Amino acid sequence: MNIAANVGPALALEVADAESIAELRHQAEGCTRCDLYRNATQIVFGEGLGKAEIVLVGEQPGDQEDLAGRPFVGPAGRLLDRCLEEAGIERRRCYVTNAVKHFKFTPRGKRRLHSKPNAGEIRRCAWWLGAELNIIKPKLVVALGATALYALLGPKAKLTPERGHILYPANHPPVLVTIHPSYLLRIRDEEDRRRQRRDFVSDLHKAAEFRPR
Ligand code: URA
Repeated sequence: MNIAANVGPALALEVADAESIAELRHQAEGCTRCDLYRNATQIVFGEGLGKAEIVLVGEQPGDQEDLAGRPFVGPAGRLLDRCLEEAGIERRRCYVTNAVKHFKFTPRGKRRLHSKPNAGEIRRCAWWLGAELNIIKPKLVVALGATALYALLGPKAKLTPERGHILYPANHPPVLVTIHPSYLLRIRDEEDRRRQRRDFVSDLHKAAEFRPR
């Protein structure tokens, strides 16, 4: 067991004036908590089972998600779907969301290049993530990558030492720490990619097997 005493305060589980994810999503459509709403096509709110046992948290929507208005529908999402299946997790039984709900990008000709959200953007958007978790009350939250981990557990939590561990922050659902699937898409060396993918599926398998204490 890893008590998350070493990872600082966990995300506040916000009590929003909403009783369901649908209501919360409706409120989020007008979000101006940070400037990212200005250039994004639309907010990409979480989706899935309102009473899911597992919540998966990514970084932010990408180009395809921004256009579709749905999380994890692009290349990283398709890879995530395959890995979830291999780990024995049905995506339709989970709730899938992002730490940051608007696409942040840099225009490059006709393309929109992904740009990492900064600490202020993550902190402001964490209000919605906290509210989502407070409505869903999952048994386990899976942090996909460093941005999700930062949003959930603050700056002291580090991906590399905690990867594959389940942390138990006070007043917060347990958090399984793993990589973001887009990391796998960027690994050039085939053997390394295969090993990292196997480890990712093994982390997800821990989520599938997880039973609260
Ligand atoms: N990457 C993410 O972190 N989230 C998405 O929704 C898509 C890609």
